[in-house]
Amino acid sequence: MTNNANVHLVTGATGTVGRQIVLELLNRGHSVRALTRDPAKAGIPGFPDGVEVVRGDLADPASLVPALEGVTGLHLITFDGGGFAALETGPEIVRLAAAAGVHRITVLNGGGDTPLQDAVTGSGIPWTVLMPVEFMANALAWAEGIRAEDTVREPFVGRLSAMVHEGDIGAVAAVALSEDGHGGQTYLITGPEALTIHDKADALAGARGRKIEVVELTEAQALEQWRAAGQSEEVIGFLLEVYGNTPPEGRTPIGTVAEVTGRPARTFAQWAAENADAFRRTA
Ligand SMILES: NC(=O)c1ccc[n+]([C@@H]2O[C@H](COP(=O)([O-])OP(=O)(O)OC[C@H]3O[C@@H](n4cnc5c(N)ncnc54)[C@H](OP(=O)(O)O)[C@@H]3O)[C@@H](O)[C@H]2O)c1
Repeated sequence: MTNNANVHLVTGATGTVGRQIVLELLNRGHSVRALTRDPAKAGIPGFPDGVEVVRGDLADPASLVPALEGVTGLHLITFDGGGFAALETGPEIVRLAAAAGVHRITVLNGGGDTPLQDAVTGSGIPWTVLMPVEFMANALAWAEGIRAEDTVREPFVGRLSAMVHEGDIGAVAAVALSEDGHGGQTYLITGPEALTIHDKADALAGARGRKIEVVELTEAQALEQWRAAGQSEEVIGFLLEVYGNTPPEGRTPIGTVAEVTGRPARTFAQWAAENADAFRRTA
């Protein structure tokens, strides 16, 4: 049962997944409060009307008190800042959430157990862990190379990924936050098919109407590329592990999106059509 009088606070709301949770909650008629450390930037790009933007920093729980006022559903991320350092403030955040009357929490899993996720699952407040596989939006990292030279340069090009549309993560989160029956669940969330990098490049080429070449990098070349892009050594180690040796759950489509939302999971071809302009040359 949904209750449209409830207010949902979404953290990470300016990010890839959080933005989609905000949109899905709004589409379902709920009141949404979007948290950011910098409200001036929440309007970019195209943050929808009808969202109350509030300032707060998960690393400074006291700053969340006004944002939590009247909130019944809370979506949390597990990290602090662009380096994805694990948040250590989970116990204080869940204490404040309980005091505010929050009665459902979703957590975007940050790749394994984290102190914040542990605090939520031990909080006594009904929780749902969202455990998506690779986001389709990661393909945006290829946009510059595709626009400039019609080329994708990646290691492990034959690896399979059951990557998920970030809008489908948002839809699962919105249901878990607003309807009964999802407490105590950890939802592995995938897309509907397992694709190689060649498959993805073909889908993007179809959507933009221009061919794309795939060039396979050695591991050493990939390290160089990721370092040049400013990735931390921790993130690089994680990428090498998951790309070089993708676990079965990362490459096996399962039915969570359809089961939870009642709608089929979106394909990468759909994602590519929605985002084709990012991969087109402007001149
Ligand atoms: N990329 C993938 O394929 C993939 C797959 C599975 C899981 N994940 C997980 O997804 C997460 C990343 O999600 P995303 O891509 O949606 O994030 P993102 O686009 O990088 O956005 C980061 C968000 O976190 C917020 N934030 C950071 N530190 C904060 C703090 N101290 N207090 C309040 N807000 C803070 C930022 O808000 P402001 O800057 O506006 O304050 C921003 O909205 C990671 O945990 C990652 O492990 C990623």
